[in-house]
Amino acid sequence: MFIDTHAHLTDRQFSDDVDIVIENAFQSGIRKIITSGYDLKSSQDAILLAQQYEGLFVSVGVYPENIYEYNEEVENEIIKLAQNSKVVAIGEIGLQYTANMPSKEKQKEVFLKQLKLAYELKKPVVIHCRDAYMDMLNLLKDNKNLISNGGTFHCFSGSIEIAKEILELGFHVSVGGVSTFKNAVSVKEMVKFLPIDRIVLETDCPYLTPTPFRGKRNEPKYILSIAENLAQIKNINIEDVGKKTSENARRLFNL
Ligand code: NI
Repeated sequence: MFIDTHAHLTDRQFSDDVDIVIENAFQSGIRKIITSGYDLKSSQDAILLAQQYEGLFVSVGVYPENIYEYNEEVENEIIKLAQNSKVVAIGEIGLQYTANMPSKEKQKEVFLKQLKLAYELKKPVVIHCRDAYMDMLNLLKDNKNLISNGGTFHCFSGSIEIAKEILELGFHVSVGGVSTFKNAVSVKEMVKFLPIDRIVLETDCPYLTPTPFRGKRNEPKYILSIAENLAQIKNINIEDVGKKTSENARRLFNL
């Protein structure tokens, strides 16, 4: 069995056939899926969807691109949503230092607020981090008291050095489609380094479709390609990949 710890099933790319996509995933051996919010609306939508499927869970939060909407009212709504039994994490939240994003200071401020929220709600966090690892690691190290519920670095494709620090802080690393790309040599090496008891799997669908389905819309069922690739990298069989990564996900997200 497999668990997709990070999907975006409320994305408009799924609006015509989300039920089929979910059924196909369950039939392919994906037992549980965590569909992730990235602003208030998508978090609300994710809960509505999850209420229809036993194996579907949710993370709620506001991610860097959308933090302009973050205020006390939105925060209170997130707190309310998090009381729902389907909500297993706060996320995706984080830092992204690319063009046309909110200022670094604003991003750090809102990330920290949501980190506190997760701590108070006793939930793990799902972290999105792009081009911002130094600030992210420093922020987490300065706030170790807030990260005792752990979490994942979603779609992690950084270096082994950064991975070491992430692991030392108690986080899990989420391995997704990028690790299957032929030219992603350094990502494969980093994944090889990761201890299997700290890896969870994710698709981040509809984005980052794994090989050999690149060019198509990504779906939770393609977790099998990610798992197969991980089995090759780790030189273990795919059943063990499924078993170990599912154990990790169940433990972390209390599934
Ligand atoms: Ni995502």
